[in-house]
Amino acid sequence: MASETVELDGVRWPVVDGILWHRLGRDALRARVVDLLDAGDVDGARVALFADADDWWGEPPPPSSQLAQVVSAGTLREAMDLLGYGRVGDYFAHRWSDPTYLAGLALLEQHWPGERPVVEVACGIGHFLRELHQRGVGPLVGVDVVFSKLWLAQRFVCPAARYVCADVTAGLPPLDLPGPAYVLCVDALYFLRDKPAAVAAMRALGDVLVVGHAHTPVEVHSSGEPLTLGQYADLLGADVVYDDDELTSAFLARRAPVPGARDTARAVALVSGTTSPGPDLSQPVGPVRPNPLYVDGVRTWPSPRWAEEYARATDYLPETYAPGPRSLLDLPEHW
Ligand SMILES: C[S@@+](CC[C@H](N)C(=O)[O-])C[C@H]1O[C@@H](n2cnc3c(N)ncnc32)[C@H](O)[C@@H]1O
Repeated sequence: MASETVELDGVRWPVVDGILWHRLGRDALRARVVDLLDAGDVDGARVALFADADDWWGEPPPPSSQLAQVVSAGTLREAMDLLGYGRVGDYFAHRWSDPTYLAGLALLEQHWPGERPVVEVACGIGHFLRELHQRGVGPLVGVDVVFSKLWLAQRFVCPAARYVCADVTAGLPPLDLPGPAYVLCVDALYFLRDKPAAVAAMRALGDVLVVGHAHTPVEVHSSGEPLTLGQYADLLGADVVYDDDELTSAFLARRAPVPGARDTARAVALVSGTTSPGPDLSQPVGPVRPNPLYVDGVRTWPSPRWAEEYARATDYLPETYAPGPRSLLDLPEHW
């Protein structure tokens, strides 16, 4: 994967391991990484970008000597430990099992990208991109504001996608798409401070906007500035809305989700643009492995916080291992 600099609008931006880093408003970091690349120090450039986080993250980065080891981590979880991900590491390591992920799958099943290119904004470490790639969707572009997440996505979760590091509220660099995109954004819109700017940037990419798991003020988490259902719907010009809990139920019951949501919904999903239903995503493509939340056959939550936030997982993950909707997972080879 190339590490170089590219010039866009008269500014030199770093590309490290094939990932364009285009985070506006971080000039000192940009200049430092460009200097490191000019000096041939790709390892130093990567470590400098690994230390950069999003604005909600309050922890200091791990020491550079620790970040330098990430490149030789054998597994996704080892890499996340070295990056100091903490509870975010639990979220990503077990994303395949949480009820909001199932809601995302139900949303995709009902509103499939078809032949369109897909841009996933705030893609995290690429779980949904992996799912789409396995079902033949592409080309795929993942955008996130945190370089290390994209690096993990590329290394461990979905190497087939192209990744661009950028803050969607500050505008995106040209993504060189072959046509109007299907733009996906799951479990992230409520985080973004300037939501109108983010939605404008997403709209500029394509004709279908699919937003999953947008928290409302009914359930406020430590990070995020949620809107009400009506505010989200207006902002997105939504054609269809769903209650996220209904999407999870529909996925588990193997039926189409019932559109509509009340003001009491804790999180909602919204779609703007015309789509058709897609394939059944309940059957992993494989090869499959037993869900690692079972240790010696006994359900073992990653943390009390995870168990509390995703309490609904008890509906489909019984206390002792048994065949069920999430008992077998198609995890990345080096999970
Ligand atoms: C809770 S995670 C969801 C990840 C992924 N969409 C999923 O559902 O698995 C939220 C993501 O939003 C990203 N993010 C936060 N602010 C952002 C911004 N301004 N621009 C782009 N991505 C952002 C974070 O880095 C993080 O990866």
